[in-house]
Amino acid sequence: MKGILLAGGSGTRLHPMTLAASKQLLPVYDKPMVYYPLSTLMLAGIKDIMLISTPDDLPQFRRLLGDGSRFGVRFEYAVQPSPDGIAQAFLIGRDWLAGEACALALGDNLIHADHLSTLLRAASARPVGATVFAYQVRDPERYGVVAFDANGKAVEVVEKPAAPTSNWAITGLYFYDHNVSDIARSIKPSARGELEITDLNRVYLEADTLHVEKLSRGCAWLDAGTPDSLLQAATFVQTIQSRTGMLVGCPEEVAFRMGFIDADRLRHHATHLGKTELGRVLMELAEGESA
Ligand code: TTP
Repeated sequence: MKGILLAGGSGTRLHPMTLAASKQLLPVYDKPMVYYPLSTLMLAGIKDIMLISTPDDLPQFRRLLGDGSRFGVRFEYAVQPSPDGIAQAFLIGRDWLAGEACALALGDNLIHADHLSTLLRAASARPVGATVFAYQVRDPERYGVVAFDANGKAVEVVEKPAAPTSNWAITGLYFYDHNVSDIARSIKPSARGELEITDLNRVYLEADTLHVEKLSRGCAWLDAGTPDSLLQAATFVQTIQSRTGMLVGCPEEVAFRMGFIDADRLRHHATHLGKTELGRVLMELAEGESA
């Protein structure tokens, strides 16, 4: 399975911060925002990752992430000339995907959950259909929403409904089988002119191949698309890290734990991070002093 990290868009809700900088490169406490969804893809065991961004911002992502060897993965870069919708990722990535199954992570989404890697590995191992994750929110009208019947089966997916029939939002992490690029080609732009990920999900739902995994209340799903949610995400990461001493969304750590890089390489990266707390924790991990 391959992975796409979608980090384009206009970030209008974060103006003026995003007038001259990519939203997904803004800091969420001690790391660039894109590190969090990158870590999620890596936790799913994915090593081939295409990063898609705007023509202006792509060079900065290259500078930050390089060819991926630092994290034991391989990066491919592609431009989305204009923000024509999330599902367009599968048209941009079509040749690179070459018919493989693909996970898609939105560059401004952070998921933190117990046993997340088990959930992710189950999703990536599912040979047919799609898997999405649903999370209960107070403001479902801001998201793609999934409704369930009395037996808990998903029956409807709607993009930003004015009158939501459920409070289960679909998070920015999706797993699709090898048909995804063909299905993306078959959907038409919505009234707002975008290739909607919800329309793509609906194709799977109607074929009875959409698996919806409900994230429990112990999980955290945050997007960092507004000043408030950006601050909340930063506070969340700071709280967990300072309370537990463990890192949230650190791709160097995930790379080590997943066996993508060895302790020598981790030590090298930790040294490179100099006097930061991140560097100290990674060094401890490399030296085997932490769990
Ligand atoms: P949004 O938050 O819906 O859009 P945006 O990032 O442009 O922000 P705003 O609404 O403030 O203008 O996008 C969700 C994620 O998907 C985000 O990481 C950007 C990304 N995205 C793209 O890369 N290309 C697109 O065409 C769209 C619609 C979103």
